[in-house]
Amino acid sequence: MSKTESSVPKVTIDSWIHSSGIDRLDAELILVNAFNSHSSVIARTKSKAIQSGSPRSARDDSDSITRVFILAHPEIIIPKPVLDEANKLLARRQNREPLAYIFRVKEFYGRNFIVTPDVLIPRPETEHLVDCVLSLRGESRSNPVKSSQTGSPRYARDDAIKVLDLGTGSGCIGITLKLEHPELEVTLSDISNKALSAAKQNWLILSRCEAKAEAIQINTLDRHANELARDDMRFIKSDLLSGINDRFDCIIANLPYVDSTWQVSPEVKFEPADALYANDNGMELIKKLINQAPKHLSKNGFLILELDPRQMKLVKKHANTYGFKLLNESPFGLVFLAPQQTLRLRSGRPSVGSG
Ligand SMILES: C[S@@+](CC[C@H](N)C(=O)[O-])C[C@H]1O[C@@H](n2cnc3c(N)ncnc32)[C@H](O)[C@@H]1O
Repeated sequence: MSKTESSVPKVTIDSWIHSSGIDRLDAELILVNAFNSHSSVIARTKSKAIQSGSPRSARDDSDSITRVFILAHPEIIIPKPVLDEANKLLARRQNREPLAYIFRVKEFYGRNFIVTPDVLIPRPETEHLVDCVLSLRGESRSNPVKSSQTGSPRYARDDAIKVLDLGTGSGCIGITLKLEHPELEVTLSDISNKALSAAKQNWLILSRCEAKAEAIQINTLDRHANELARDDMRFIKSDLLSGINDRFDCIIANLPYVDSTWQVSPEVKFEPADALYANDNGMELIKKLINQAPKHLSKNGFLILELDPRQMKLVKKHANTYGFKLLNESPFGLVFLAPQQTLRLRSGRPSVGSG
């Protein structure tokens, strides 16, 4: 052992995790990430584990360190460069920065999406919106929307349904739909240029490298993005529907709906305010979208919205005023059928007309 090595304080995996002061799972993930960003130490660390004769050191030919390895070898001394990296990441997490921003990735519907500080971190409850669209075609993990009369899907599987993901952010909703069903015609739209470029990057990577997505290193993203230019996804910058002329069979929107007076966790403060907050108790943008949507939905089209349970009652009432029929509701989502009759505006309020 060299002099320098012997003077470095020896910190084991177990002691580092215990003294981290953060959630144990987060600490393990940080350590795994720190190990894997120093490929030169991985083989050495694994061979030390085998030499230690620990009964837990099962043969492992992979070229990365996993959580299983961390759990199986709490006695391993963390090499200096890994320790430095882990401490840097730990300081960010102790400052309550979300892991998704630290690692620049978040899993959504089984795929890894790149998240930059310009986009909201995809939430598990948003996966339900994807299920709603898929169930309109009779395919989803949970099948939440069925025809009230027949229980059968509303669209045939090979129908080329036109879908708009409005307020796309990282692109997680629309990209998932397109990857699950390539025959869908999907448009991704956002008011933010930065969000649109994050969505584009996710589309380029996930569409071409689906199987390899996990293996792509963050620092090669730009090269991959250039190599993978692809045009079967539309991207539109628009304030709600004002910059969009088409009609869609389905508009799906997870717009900002947080009211500024609500209590949020310190982690949320790292997310872009423009992706989170809206006036009128958080419902301003949702209500505006409901007002604009009839002109942009095909006959029998659907409007699918994510919102907070506290907003359900008022949003349902507002949508009803504009002629939407509620088809399904879940704790964070509402599915509406487009108004079946033309609505005329009289004194600024909608009323049903004869067409
Ligand atoms: C709550 S985030 C949702 C992001 C993503 N769809 C998801 O589910 O993770 C809301 C998104 O709506 C966008 N947005 C905010 N105001 C908008 C507007 N007036 N028109 C279109 N998009 C808007 C934000 O830029 C942000 O990307």
